[in-house]
Amino acid sequence: MQLPAFDEGKYKFFDVNWDAPMNTIAGLTEWSRDINSVYGITTVLETFVFFAVAIPLIITLIKFKQKPGDNIPPKQFHGNATLEVLWTVIPVVLLLFIAVPTWRVLFKHAHKVEGAMEVEVIGHQWWWEFRYPQNGKIVTANELHLPENTPVHFTVWSADVIHSFWVPKFGGKIDAIPVTMKDGVPTRTNILNIVTPPLADPNKKGGEMYQGQCVELCGASHALMRFNVVVHSKAEFESWAKSANTPPVVETTLAKDGEQVFARCQACHTIAGTPSEQIPGDKIGPNLTNFGNRKYLAAGTRLNTSENLAIWLRDPAALKPGSLMPNLGLTEQEIAQVSSYLRLSTTKQY
Ligand code: CUA
Repeated sequence: MQLPAFDEGKYKFFDVNWDAPMNTIAGLTEWSRDINSVYGITTVLETFVFFAVAIPLIITLIKFKQKPGDNIPPKQFHGNATLEVLWTVIPVVLLLFIAVPTWRVLFKHAHKVEGAMEVEVIGHQWWWEFRYPQNGKIVTANELHLPENTPVHFTVWSADVIHSFWVPKFGGKIDAIPVTMKDGVPTRTNILNIVTPPLADPNKKGGEMYQGQCVELCGASHALMRFNVVVHSKAEFESWAKSANTPPVVETTLAKDGEQVFARCQACHTIAGTPSEQIPGDKIGPNLTNFGNRKYLAAGTRLNTSENLAIWLRDPAALKPGSLMPNLGLTEQEIAQVSSYLRLSTTKQY
């Protein structure tokens, strides 16, 4: 794979959403608070071990340093049963203090809650696919929509190399492992159970947005494999789900011309309710249904503006080195057309 030369100006990587910093300190789910409690225990014990080793070490170094005229060699001895038992037993006890709460947290969250919402998460180089098998077979890319205060059961796998699915504010991460499909079902998947946080403001339109990131080195654009999670009120989620699979509304001439241009894209991309859906097989590019509603493009790295979409379409590899999306050599006019179709026709009210 030939990567383009690095050009600082060209690679202005992220339009970062600072409203949702990617830290794990103030976790929003029970899963994340439980992990932090184990982390707290570990930190206390580690601090104890550090001082229990460092203080005697420093005292010994100072007290037993050879002084001028001190020529008698120290007493030589070999083996000390008491000491050896002690420094085996103490670490075992300390590790048990870490292991037991760790197991408790792992087992507590290992089981799917009865009636949990199902979401399938599929890692791709370098974007995320989210499928909602229970909600009318909705498929989205790079933007995961969830209702607040709801148990969710994620089934996670990968279409190519190992990725890792992580929403820092929600707690732990889980690897997406490459699978072979057997009768349309992935052979080996990982799971993650979380209960989505309640909205701080229950009437907030458009929900709360949290950032996610691939956390397994997966190739040239690993760092550019981001996504967003939008948590809605339950009512708003229902209306999002209803709007999610409706076809684009193509009104202007520009958008209609863009629809024609998009015919060239549909071998790799699907938009629900258009002929692109009829093309069989798994598409290698992200599903673009409701693209106009997405806040970001290029897997959560750039704000979804017509300028950024044009930059992307002119040369995808400039924004995402190694991207599988080829440079289609679109003219500026075609870019304006397809951008109008993709951004405006697919924007839904919900
Ligand atoms: Cu996918 Cu890193």
